[in-house]
Amino acid sequence: MDKRNKALLEFAEELALSSGHWMVEQRNNIIELEYESKSNHIDLVTRVDREVEQMVVARIRKHFPDHLILGEESTSVNDFSIIEHNLEFCWVIDPIDGTMNFVHGIPHFAISIAVVKNGIPLAGVVYNPNSKELFSAARGWGARLNGKKITVSKQDTFKNSLVSTGFAAADWHIESPFRSEVQKVFGHCRSIRISGSSALDLAYIAAGRMDGFWHRKLAPWDIAAGILLVEEAGGKVSSLDGQFFQFTDDYLIVSNGLIHDGIISFLEE
Ligand code: IPD
Ligand code: CA
Ligand code: CA
Repeated sequence: MDKRNKALLEFAEELALSSGHWMVEQRNNIIELEYESKSNHIDLVTRVDREVEQMVVARIRKHFPDHLILGEESTSVNDFSIIEHNLEFCWVIDPIDGTMNFVHGIPHFAISIAVVKNGIPLAGVVYNPNSKELFSAARGWGARLNGKKITVSKQDTFKNSLVSTGFAAADWHIESPFRSEVQKVFGHCRSIRISGSSALDLAYIAAGRMDGFWHRKLAPWDIAAGILLVEEAGGKVSSLDGQFFQFTDDYLIVSNGLIHDGIISFLEE
């Protein structure tokens, strides 16, 4: 294992823990949280999202002045190909994944931080400050939950699998492909969850709590850390054709590896 990946991870863990505690403190002290809409009425952002990202970015800039930063609320871009072929270290940050849950007072949200080089995540953390669960992985070092090694589930039957999904804000409309995706998978697996935090969905697959996941139009900050967690926990990550996933791909398919083809075959029906 590259010692540098572990050092990057330790810094990311420290950032996630300190800002995660602050985030929950803020949430608990506000009765009605003010929020704004971004692209549409379901795409939300709060002062806390912005301030957490500012704190994290400031610390990365001080510690690693040469590294690039891609954060959802401050430095976001629409063209994700910039992190696919970039030979510099790039910190990819989602200050709150699950902002809608955060706004509604549902304690299921997380901060997600990854370091990506040439399109490959090298270190990543997903921290749920409500449950105090820190999921972390460094490439070649495995995936851990609060310091203990985790692995994906051994479920090999799609019928008995618990899968999760979600939809991009732009896909919340009557003609959305999401409706037919759910229809295709519905009834073939044990159940389907829409948790509102894709970062935690992927962390749960890494921890063996869920077996599979599909989603369209996710951004690198939603998934970069989660992808590494699943890969290091022995799972599989691909695009809809089962090939190597790139951040510019439309679909992301994630699983324990054993039910991967099951998800793809139902979606492709
Ligand atoms: C959202 C979550 C959700 C996914 C949405 C994302 P946000 O991120 O990851 O699971 O279904 O597409 O936008 O907006 O809470 O950071
Ligand atoms: Ca997100
Ligand atoms: Ca977010």
